[in-house]
Amino acid sequence: MVIVRTFELEIWVSFVLCLICFSFGFSPEDNYLIDCGSSTNTSVDNRVFVSDSSSSINLLTQENISAEISSNYSSLYHTARIFTGPSSYSFPIKQKGRLWIRLHFFPFVYEKYNMTLAKFSVSAQSFTLIKEYQSGNGSLVKEYSLNITSDKLVLTFTPLANSFAFLNAIEVFSLPPELIPEGATIIGSQTGNQNLQKQALETVARVNMGNETVTRQTDPLWRLWVADDLFLVHNGLAKFVSNVKAVNFTGEKTKEEIAPADVYGTATMLNSEPNPSTNANVTWIFDVDPGFEYLVRFHFCDISNTPQPILFNVYINSWYASHDFNLPKFTSKTIGAPYYMDSIIRVSDSRKLSVSVGPSAIQEGYPNAFLNGLEIMKVNNSRGSFDVLESNSNFSTDSKMKVGLIVGLAAGLFVVVVLVLVLFLLCRRRKKLAQIGHSKAEDKFGINGGGATAIFSSSKIGYRYPFVAIQEATNNFNESLVIGVGGFGKVYKGVLRDKTMVAVKRGGSQSHQGLAEFRTEIEMLSQFRHRHLVSLIGYCDEKDEMIIIYEYMENGTLKNHLYGSNFPSLSWRKRLEVCIGSARGLHYLHTGSTNTIIHRDVKSANILLDENFMAKVADFGLSKTGPNLDQTHVSTAVKGSFGYLDPEYLTRQQLTEKSDVYSFGVVMLEVLCGRPVIDPSLPREKMNLVEWAIKCQNRGHLEDIVDPKIMDQIKPESLKKFGEIVEKCLAESGLDRPSMGDVLWNLEYALQLQGNEEKSSPNGETSSQANLVNQSHSTISITDFSMGSVDDLAGVSMSKVFAQIVQEEARES
Ligand SMILES: *[C@@H]1O[C@H](CO)[C@@H](O)[C@H](O)[C@H]1NC(C)=O
Ligand SMILES: *[C@@H]1O[C@H](CO)[C@@H](O)[C@H](O)[C@H]1NC(C)=O
Ligand SMILES: *[C@@H]1O[C@H](CO)[C@@H](O)[C@H](O)[C@H]1NC(C)=O
Repeated sequence: MVIVRTFELEIWVSFVLCLICFSFGFSPEDNYLIDCGSSTNTSVDNRVFVSDSSSSINLLTQENISAEISSNYSSLYHTARIFTGPSSYSFPIKQKGRLWIRLHFFPFVYEKYNMTLAKFSVSAQSFTLIKEYQSGNGSLVKEYSLNITSDKLVLTFTPLANSFAFLNAIEVFSLPPELIPEGATIIGSQTGNQNLQKQALETVARVNMGNETVTRQTDPLWRLWVADDLFLVHNGLAKFVSNVKAVNFTGEKTKEEIAPADVYGTATMLNSEPNPSTNANVTWIFDVDPGFEYLVRFHFCDISNTPQPILFNVYINSWYASHDFNLPKFTSKTIGAPYYMDSIIRVSDSRKLSVSVGPSAIQEGYPNAFLNGLEIMKVNNSRGSFDVLESNSNFSTDSKMKVGLIVGLAAGLFVVVVLVLVLFLLCRRRKKLAQIGHSKAEDKFGINGGGATAIFSSSKIGYRYPFVAIQEATNNFNESLVIGVGGFGKVYKGVLRDKTMVAVKRGGSQSHQGLAEFRTEIEMLSQFRHRHLVSLIGYCDEKDEMIIIYEYMENGTLKNHLYGSNFPSLSWRKRLEVCIGSARGLHYLHTGSTNTIIHRDVKSANILLDENFMAKVADFGLSKTGPNLDQTHVSTAVKGSFGYLDPEYLTRQQLTEKSDVYSFGVVMLEVLCGRPVIDPSLPREKMNLVEWAIKCQNRGHLEDIVDPKIMDQIKPESLKKFGEIVEKCLAESGLDRPSMGDVLWNLEYALQLQGNEEKSSPNGETSSQANLVNQSHSTISITDFSMGSVDDLAGVSMSKVFAQIVQEEARES
């Protein structure tokens, strides 16, 4: 029965595909589809991927292994070829011109080869496509387009010393010549025209507006168009529209190969209906690497059926890509005719690229603006590379540089430290008692062991900003822009020249956060990027300054939304989401790179919320590379925040990622109870939140301590689950505590138990902030977890988002 059904489906699919191929008439002159490591050919979406052991494939390699795994993922990903030495595939090319190269990476473990740990570089002709790549757990499809002028294409895989390279599949095929333009206009501070003929391009984003994903199966060139919601800045003024029937390809230059009707037939528009005088932009933001030029392609098609033309402005990073854009002018007034526009922008110091459409001042009638699709392609730099490691500019990150932070300690000194610590704790507690209700300062403390030496060569790391640029951004550190004060100094809100909002942390001269912490933080942050970790924008170490620039987090700290301030309180569902987001960030720290990173200062004041109340973990000043590096794992000083410290770490100085799990358990309690960890104003037995909560949990009366503001929202099952997770996180011994991955999984379960009556409506209506905190009828944006499950593992940039979709796709096929 099942077999028959699959069979029917296949026939149907092939039928549809044939129709598509037929109607587009596109069959690439050169077309190589390869299933690496497989002994047989594999058919996927009606395309045949040839085994790379077949004689038709020219593979030059010294040593290689073909690996196999059985899984539910796409059959393309059941095998991989592993290269333990430099190896290359060579493809004879009949038709000179642009080719697409798609590399599929889907890491798994085969015998002694753990592909998530593979480290290697990939080059094609003279271009470096990937430099010293470490795969991590996520799957990934990388796409490049190269103009081939010789009669063969050579793809070379070079493993790093003591590592290996791997690959699951390759696609190499000729492109329709009209797809990539010969040149495009440069916008921004430089102007002119960039000739693209000699350039290689890497696809960074390919997005379908109107929030509909267009899959590889339905695209004539097997492209994946990701729904735009992930990148959209939710200001409540965008709406998604769809009218695929309105698309009319009979007109001018734009063919279905440029982008299919499914892309042109949906759009994201300015929603001016509630208020016709609405004047605002619709904006999308993308992660990019600084130091590169990007080709940005806008796809437009007016599917609105309005008689009057819609005039609007199009911006990239606040520069005009088009002023008073008038679509009918370009489409000879053909109704429903698609059109695309290319611009090139150079991104020098920001990691974000923003694209906006907004009403034109000369529009008659009510303001409007729309966009149907967007592609962003990175242009190779002057060194012929796509990798930040080989950046044009003098900034580059060197992840290999590890500051020698962890210093073994003689037993005597150890005792001294413990004594000092105990004294310090006592003083601290007394001081706390004296300051009931006053203290807003961060409750961070640290005792400097003094032995840690940090050698920091600024040329090696991060994005260095001149001091004057920061003065300008913060209006010369204007007091009115202070958004936080702590042991380290002050945090200012600032705006960079390119309009990026930033938070600027400036270490004071008597800063408690010493130079070592400053360095650690920059180093840690420049190594990874993740949706749930606050990202580093830059730093400044001119003269004696210690300044770090972070992305700006609109809604401040989680702590502020739980107690002790006038911020609106969060609903239970939102609180769970915040826990899940931060658990994801921590899980990534613990598992996302070769060495475990221990945050060491997990607390509600270090969890920040962006404009959509998405949680990001911040403050890596105390972070350490975990026990992988340091066998003794006895640290020079106990650091962390009072009330959150793992008791085992306090007594035994054993630092493991389970210390973060303990602190996270404390944060979960704050979230549940909406009160400080230590509240000296309460009776003795309730003063310490952890003790009190454990007592209630043991008596089976957890509901006694729930924040009254959310009491009537919590479903008993969800509360029970949450209580169990907290209890496990707070286990005395680290060994009994779950991993962050388990915590994450269980939290998601607790959210499921809460039910999804509050989910956002399927038409994707965006929610305003007021809605988000409204407790009973909120339409919460849940994009961050429906997309979640994979991004928790790997540094997210666009590529990872693609990876996510690919996995999802793979799972389905
Ligand atoms: C839209 O964005 C541009 C560029 O950032 C800005 O100059 C313009 O004022 C914005 N328009 C509105 C209505 O906010
Ligand atoms: C990209 O590489 C080509 C060939 O190496 C080179 O001619 C071109 O200038 C590079 N592009 C940029 C923007 O530097
Ligand atoms: C990959 O996932 C596995 C199991 O889910 C985990 O044990 C491992 O630590 C992860 N590795 C990396 C590099 O994230």
